Amino acid sequence: MTDFSSLPTMQGFFAHPRFEADVYDCEVEGRVPADLHGAFVRLGGDWLYPPKDPTDAPFSQDGYVNLFRFKNGRVDYKGRWVKTARFKADQAAQKQLFGNYRNPFTDDPSVKGIDRSVSNTTPLAFAGKLFTLKEDGLPYEIDPKTLDTIGTWNFHGAYQSQTFTAHPKIDPLSGEMITYGYEATGLLSDDLFLYTIASSGHVTREVRLKMPFVSMIHDIAVTQKHVILPVFGYTSNMEILKAGKVHWWWDDTKPLLFGIIPRDGEAQDIRWFKGPRRAIIHTFNARSQGNKVIFEAPIFDGPPFPFFPPIDGSKWDPTRARAFIRRITFDLKSKSDGFTEEILSPQPVVDLVRIDNRYMTQKQRYGYMGYADPARPFNQARAGNIQGRVTNCYGRYDFDTGKMSSFFAGDTHSLQECCFVPRSKDAPEGDGYLMGVASNYAEMRTELVIADAMRLEEGAIARVKLPFRSTPQVHGIWVGESEVALA
Ligand SMILES: [Fe+2]
Repeated sequence: MTDFSSLPTMQGFFAHPRFEADVYDCEVEGRVPADLHGAFVRLGGDWLYPPKDPTDAPFSQDGYVNLFRFKNGRVDYKGRWVKTARFKADQAAQKQLFGNYRNPFTDDPSVKGIDRSVSNTTPLAFAGKLFTLKEDGLPYEIDPKTLDTIGTWNFHGAYQSQTFTAHPKIDPLSGEMITYGYEATGLLSDDLFLYTIASSGHVTREVRLKMPFVSMIHDIAVTQKHVILPVFGYTSNMEILKAGKVHWWWDDTKPLLFGIIPRDGEAQDIRWFKGPRRAIIHTFNARSQGNKVIFEAPIFDGPPFPFFPPIDGSKWDPTRARAFIRRITFDLKSKSDGFTEEILSPQPVVDLVRIDNRYMTQKQRYGYMGYADPARPFNQARAGNIQGRVTNCYGRYDFDTGKMSSFFAGDTHSLQECCFVPRSKDAPEGDGYLMGVASNYAEMRTELVIADAMRLEEGAIARVKLPFRSTPQVHGIWVGESEVALA
């Protein structure tokens, strides 16, 4: 018997759907652009069984992958659990066997040695395959036609790290992937293995690095010449894990560090830069320009996640959990280990940010993200008293002019991460579509909204409306028909 009543934050719209689904020829408001051929693939979490500890991080939810397939102006939807080793063990036992986020000491003894990853963070299309990623395990390969789970993938045996990031970077000029795993040799190890993987899926370089301390390295940035690794105050130790607690704790005494290593460098070539306390979960992009490395990201002054508490026992401070778009500049010619930081926009943003991926590793003009605009209307009578949880706009930030253009989702809607789709392979930067999923609280259903990325103010071109609430998303990507064999 399954009971979710101990989870007060997961009721109403936030109750977990827990079903697999196919919807053929989805209901569409407006007109789906005829030049969209491919799929918007989302990955997020759902609980097959409730967590053993109701205070556990939502990052422990079982992976759930879903896909909107665009073909000839119509859209089909498919949603499936990621059937990880952990999912199968729980399903067989008909209960939750696994404990707190990245803490095997809290597991049922029967699952010792079973891969704990729930593979719930980012979809990836690479080397003709579709994967689901989570930073505490290897990628799971997914059949792009059926969304069936095939199994873990280690790049023909050459990928040696025990973990694989949720944010690998694909260089659009060479087609190769720069990726890494941290805690690479086991729980709380300070090893980070950095890889270059050719577009064929074969590993061409491995560099084994030591980190200054164990830290959440959720995302990196890559230029044509360098890799930039942010290390900051989310840390952990074995005493915490043995006491049965969550993996990450915020240590306010830890500085923000950046390791910069040439893409063709060896472990001894890494150079560390140090700055004021910050948290960096996601990045826009970076570029090498002469002797400078320019890095742009939404950056927090303090810890963003309330479920990973301060290690000193102080109360989590929501006022430090606002992300601002910032530019950090490193001067590689200088002997200083410092850097300069600028806040580019006064608008706090949701840190799930995207760019036109054809500009990854080079200078980009536009960045895309969600944000909350309190000046926009909210219909509390229809949508309920959830203003604090509403991301009502997508923004396009112009790094050249500093202007923010915005798409308003509606007065009963909240947006999840968006994704930019170029109008064509050769279209200029920013010419294309911005798409992402909105929660329609009034109608208790999920809508995929599509806007012209150059005309966000004009609103949605089309809304693909599901007849139910789909699972919450962490990240979503556009997959073209040439990338993987879609149904
Ligand atoms: Fe992420």
